[in-house]
Amino acid sequence: MLTSSVDSMMSERLQIPPIKTGSEIPTMTGGTRFVRACLRRPVDRTPVWFLRQAGRYMPEYQVVRRHHSLLEICKQPKLAAEVTITAAEKLDVDAAIIFADLLLPFECMGLDFEFQAGEGPVIHKPVRTADDIARLRTDRASELGYVAEAIARVVAHFKDRLGIIGFCGAPFTLASYMIEGGGSRNYVHTKTLMYRETDAWRRLLDKLVKVLREFARQQVEAGADVIQIFDSWAGALSIEDYREYVLPTTKTLVRDVQAMGVPVIYFGVDTASLLPSMHDTGADVLGLDWRTPLDRAWRGLDHACAVQGNLDPITLFAAPELIRRRVHQILDQAGGRPGHIFNLGHGIVPNTPVENVQQAVKFVREYAAVNRHE
Ligand code: CP3
Repeated sequence: MLTSSVDSMMSERLQIPPIKTGSEIPTMTGGTRFVRACLRRPVDRTPVWFLRQAGRYMPEYQVVRRHHSLLEICKQPKLAAEVTITAAEKLDVDAAIIFADLLLPFECMGLDFEFQAGEGPVIHKPVRTADDIARLRTDRASELGYVAEAIARVVAHFKDRLGIIGFCGAPFTLASYMIEGGGSRNYVHTKTLMYRETDAWRRLLDKLVKVLREFARQQVEAGADVIQIFDSWAGALSIEDYREYVLPTTKTLVRDVQAMGVPVIYFGVDTASLLPSMHDTGADVLGLDWRTPLDRAWRGLDHACAVQGNLDPITLFAAPELIRRRVHQILDQAGGRPGHIFNLGHGIVPNTPVENVQQAVKFVREYAAVNRHE
């Protein structure tokens, strides 16, 4: 049922007739290629995009950043759309992720934060007690409408040429930012609350899901083809803790978003041992970091979902010949099986040479061209 609702949604915006397996596969638009891969359908070639493809490594972004703060860019749909579009066009990728940030929902929940240069995000009054959790608002998600507005602009620009990715944080990763007050090494405050005030922990995750579900809905209604849920720091959890304290609420969010008619990509870092449990959320696609070879990770999932990844982002600092070798190795590991989206294992870092990112896209294309003629 789910698949058929996704099917009708997909064909609504991307206008694609179903393709029979084994028949000649016609050339596709980036949008069709990307969404079909998320659903493990055959594609003409592996779709490619990059985590953090719009960001500080890109001179065009630096120019915009000189005049505007990160939050200003996020909150002005015209600017956010421009940054999104510029990066996707410059890289010639198959999908564009909307320029926004994981922490934006904090504001409408009543938490002030800022991005401090070199420090990452800082939440001024971290959430530490059951009372703090009780005070968090869940009725103001409509204030996040600027992200949906930016998506609508990107959709109007690309039409079906590219897949449009909306995103939000996963309950655990957002809760950890709220509780720690920023990035963390050991997640001591987060895990303490999780273990010792488990009821309050569950209420916090439920509140987050309520806001995130609304936020995702706005993005889907604005035309996002896929929603990516970032659980960037889930790798800090043992399998037992993930399953007991995180999986149930995350599964609810994944299912709720899928019921809106779009596939879900669920992404985390350092997750080799967690992948089978992350798969239990029911996500259509799992993001893989680079620490496990793609074929091993996918086999461990019985190929029962699509996978996205998994080049080490720092490989983009290497000479082109090594980048080519690593890109082709990942494509070899995927083995032409439907359901692979080429990406990095985590985001592009500052100072990455833009031309190397462009080369990586070319290497993905070149591989498809060579293999089609074999
Ligand atoms: O193309 C894109 O992917 C850009 C859109 C985007 C941003 N943040 C803009 C941004 C996305 C998808 C995010 C997600 C995000 N935000 C995550 C999950 C992704 C991941 O890497 O796992 C996380 C953990 C955050 C929270 C966050 N925002 C941090 C930790 C930082 C500081 C990072 C640093 O290196 O300084 C940010 C700031 C941020 N968000 C930047 C950008 C482009 C860089 C800061 C800037 O431009 O001033």
